[in-house]
Amino acid sequence: SKKIIIDCDPGIDDALALALAHGSRAVDLVGVTTVAGNVGLPRTTDNALRLADFYGIAAPVARGADRPLMRPPRTAGHVHGETGLGAAQLPDPAREPVAEHAVDFLIESLAQQPGEISLIAVGPLTNIALALRKEPRIAEWAREFVVMGGSSTRGNITPAAEFNVHADPEAAAMAFGADWRAVMAGLDLTHQAQLSAPVRRRFAGLGRLEEELLAPCLDVYEQHVDYREGPVIHDACAVAYAIAPEIFRADPAAVRVETRGEHTSGMTVVDFAAAQPDADVLTTLDTDAFWDLVADALHRVAER
Ligand code: BDR
Ligand code: CA
Repeated sequence: SKKIIIDCDPGIDDALALALAHGSRAVDLVGVTTVAGNVGLPRTTDNALRLADFYGIAAPVARGADRPLMRPPRTAGHVHGETGLGAAQLPDPAREPVAEHAVDFLIESLAQQPGEISLIAVGPLTNIALALRKEPRIAEWAREFVVMGGSSTRGNITPAAEFNVHADPEAAAMAFGADWRAVMAGLDLTHQAQLSAPVRRRFAGLGRLEEELLAPCLDVYEQHVDYREGPVIHDACAVAYAIAPEIFRADPAAVRVETRGEHTSGMTVVDFAAAQPDADVLTTLDTDAFWDLVADALHRVAER
């Protein structure tokens, strides 16, 4: 199966992305790196460790950047709750993050297995930018680079910008501008992954997974991320792409990140008509197939 590393800021949808990765037979989660984002770095790291223990993920967890490259940290605790995991209270983690910094962990993992590992970023892109700065060849070594971030229409944290890109636009500009063909799972795509009540009913009967994590997370998340049908599980879309690219439509485009705009900082400017596209932007999702993947993976995690 395909090896993946997830760079994340858990975060409720990050928690679901990790569960999808761990429960899927098609991918093998070989590392989790953390970054400041939804909540501060101590929390995102602690949450990643708690989730890893709770799900039974054996892969190393490496702690990364505690703030954006140049800007003051911005969190989204209003959406994910004070701890980042809604009202969930998972047991204390039984292990520590590895001693290595996430940036070094990423570089070494990709260097050791060039062409083998897919890198999936679902938080602000600070670690990715720092790793690219330190070792630009990671762009060549990564099997693919998938980002949950940006939008080709409107934003969520501001009218123009999506949270992960807005939190560290300079880093996002480096990540999209690097020598790989980024796959962008932006808001236009992720908004198709709304957790409706009928889908949520498919998560019933998952025992502790449902009672201790999904319910207390989603009950909080639902109050703040309200779309028509239900809360949007953004980050799981990027993992789903690594698992089943055939359930997505991808359109080539050039993606630029606005770093200077007065009202548009962190906006992704997506040019679908570019003569030289440098990214694949995911535009549509087979939602039934997506929820089948998620439900399957959750059932497998619950059984372990
Ligand atoms: C992104 O922002 C975060 O709050 C979510 O975890 C997701 O990665 C959506 O804009
Ligand atoms: Ca996230």
